[in-house]
Order: sequence, then structure tokens, then C-alpha cells
Amino acid sequence: MSHLDVNKIREDFPILKRKINNYPLVYFDNAATSQKPIQVIDAIVDFYENHNANTGRAVHTLSQEATDMQQVAREKVAHFINADDKEVVFVRGTTEAINLVAYSLGLHTLKKGDEVLVSVMEHHSNIVPWDIVSGLSGFTIKYVNVKSDGSLDYKDFENKLSKKTKLVSLTHVSNVTGAINDVKKVSKAAHEYGALMLVDGAQSVPHLPVDVKELDVDFLAFSGHKMLGPTGIGVLYGKTGLLEKMTPFQGGGSMISQVSFNKEHDQCDVSFAGLPGKFEAGTPDISGIVGLGASVKYLEQIGQNEVLEHEKRLTNYAIKKMQEIQKVAIFGHSDESQSSGIVPFNVEGLSSHDVALFMDNYGIAIRSGFHCAQPLHQIFNLQSSARASFYIYNTFDEIDRFVDILKQVV
Ligand SMILES: Cc1ncc(COP(=O)(O)O)c(C=O)c1O
Repeated sequence: MSHLDVNKIREDFPILKRKINNYPLVYFDNAATSQKPIQVIDAIVDFYENHNANTGRAVHTLSQEATDMQQVAREKVAHFINADDKEVVFVRGTTEAINLVAYSLGLHTLKKGDEVLVSVMEHHSNIVPWDIVSGLSGFTIKYVNVKSDGSLDYKDFENKLSKKTKLVSLTHVSNVTGAINDVKKVSKAAHEYGALMLVDGAQSVPHLPVDVKELDVDFLAFSGHKMLGPTGIGVLYGKTGLLEKMTPFQGGGSMISQVSFNKEHDQCDVSFAGLPGKFEAGTPDISGIVGLGASVKYLEQIGQNEVLEHEKRLTNYAIKKMQEIQKVAIFGHSDESQSSGIVPFNVEGLSSHDVALFMDNYGIAIRSGFHCAQPLHQIFNLQSSARASFYIYNTFDEIDRFVDILKQVV
């Protein structure tokens, strides 16, 4: 049924051989973090075993090798999203990328009377940074509504967009429902009003083709650990012209061009490095960058269209089977073409944690809780939800097992 060679892919993931509570692991918590193929693990081990040194600082061979490896990874990531390598800033993850823009741009250039538009379907990491920085600089945050089928309310977005809007910060894919937002359309409308467009790509870059030029977005934030890469590494993409104008988020080593001590005035005159160094203060997560490069290479070999198609097939199959089970309610799902591999659900009369715990007894890992998206749960009048989320190594057989256990839960 699948165009991906899932069996071959599965062989690359050592963890999939594990048993949990004496059952083969079924890993359906991919929206939280993905598993790692041996190619990524090997790349990290190889870095530490053979090339470990700090980057960009020394003339010795190891440092040159580490610096080259970092640059190769940056170019791979840039190619993956169709950006220039200077526009790829390495950060810890999506959260840090959004904080970087909130502070560098929000704090320094936005003021009272300006507005930032986000939506109620955002992960907390695309709400809280704006909330904190708005308290410092005085701008207002407006929240775009979501329709009952989980899709963005574009009418409400258009109503809230105005000359006061300076930035729209929107998730590409909801981490709760898997709904895919038309960020190209939103970006076009935002630009017509002179506003900038930030896309939270935490749930899109790992699962579908994302081309920053095609979408015409100003910023894109994503995390390595959700796309087969290691934890602790992520990316902020920003258009060159914007990054050049922005004040650095953090100061320290590596991000300067010069720090000269002016004895007469007892002060230091600081000038910043060019892009992307200006936003990368301190020693980077070099092994993480190398691992991310390997994960991007792995995904490119499969192709993001294939990844999305596989996930959609799994999702449609799961939904069809789950809909046959009484007392199981799937929420926030619109027509299948607009959602990636996430199925949010609840079992009548049971807490999502109880459902997840029961599943864990049979080796099935799903997520429960509010998935760092409390406002969306409030909109749906839910305390919490259970979430099954798929990736390239998941199979129809695994969904059958999951559905069998779900029937037992009921
Ligand atoms: C849509 C979305 N945005 C942001 C994040 C935060 O990512 P990280 O914790 O890697 O910074 C997540 C993580 O689940 C997410 O799903």
C-alpha cells in the first residue's frame, strides 16, 4: 500500500527493535519527538570519535574539520528549505528561534499601538514569548480563531489583519490536530499590509516539503529532534535583509567582529559578525548540527512528498478504523487533504492519561495531556486529549494493533 519502503526504513532505527512491557514498541508519539536512524547516531559518534574540536576558532586540523562539518550541515539544511546558508541560524529548537525573533525584533522595533497576530491553535512556544515581550515593549497580541473542524478561520484572520499588524506568527501545522495552514495565503495577505510573517515549522518541516521562497515567509522556526535529528538543535531561517537589520538576541563569543577596549572612555566598542554568526553566540551544539545534517540527508533521500503521502495514508486508515469504535471521539479534523499525520481523540468517560497508560502496557506510545496547546483545548472544551502521531517508520499493522488495544480500552 505504501510507496515508501517502510520495512527497509525500519531497519535503520535501532530503537524499533525494543520491547516495552514485553510487547514490540509501537511509537506513535512522533509529534513530540521522532526516533533517530543509525545514520544520525553514527554521524554524532563519528564526530566525537574522530573530529571533535571547537569550530571557527583555531587553525589546527581538528578545528578545521569540525568547522567544515558544521558548514556542510548548514548548507544541507539551507538546501532542504531552499534558503541561503547565511540565512540558517542554528539555535536550540523552535522555542529558541521564536524567542530570538520576539526579543530581537519584537523588543527592539515594536511599540504600543502595534499588533502581533497569532492563532489560538499555537503551541505555547508561539504564544508565551510574544506575551512576555509585549509586556516589555507594549504591543498588543491578537488571536485568530479556529473553526470547529480544526482549520484556521481565514475570515477572522482577514478581519483582524490591519495596518497596525506588524507581524503574523502562525504555526504551519497544528501539533494537536495536524491541520495544515495555508501559510502562503496568510503570508501574502500579511505582506499586503506591510506585516512580516513568521512560520512555526516544528510540525511541518519534518513532514512535508517546505520551501521558504515558494511560501514567501520572512522567518521559519523548526527543531531537529522532530525530524530524525538530535535534541538541542534547531533552526531559525530569516530573510537576509531582515536578519542584517536585527539586533542580536544574545551576546558573547563568536558573534562579534570586534570588541575593542577604549581606555580613555573606559568602555568597549562592539561590532557584530556577519550572518549567521551574529545570532550564534558561544560554542554551538556542533555534534547536534552534524546530526541534523545527517537527518536532513536521510529525509532528502526519501523525499518530503513521499513522507507526507505515507503519513496521510496512515492517518486516513487510522481515522476510518477509529471511527468504527463506539465512545471514541476524534476531534478537530477537517478534510483529509488538509491534515498531516496526527490523530487527536478522546475516549468517553476516560482521561487521556488513563488511555495512554493502558496503551503503554501493550508497548504503544501515544501522547496525552494538552500538548502545550491549552488555548486550543479550551476552544474545543476539552481538559486534555490523546494523540497518535505518525512518521516514516510507522505501519498499517501498527495501526491495527493500536486499534485493537483501543477497543480493549473502551
Ligand atoms: C507546533 C510546535 N511549535 C513549537 C514546538 C516547540 O518545539 P521545541 O520544544 O523543540 O522547541 C513544538 C513542540 O512540540 C510544536 O509542536
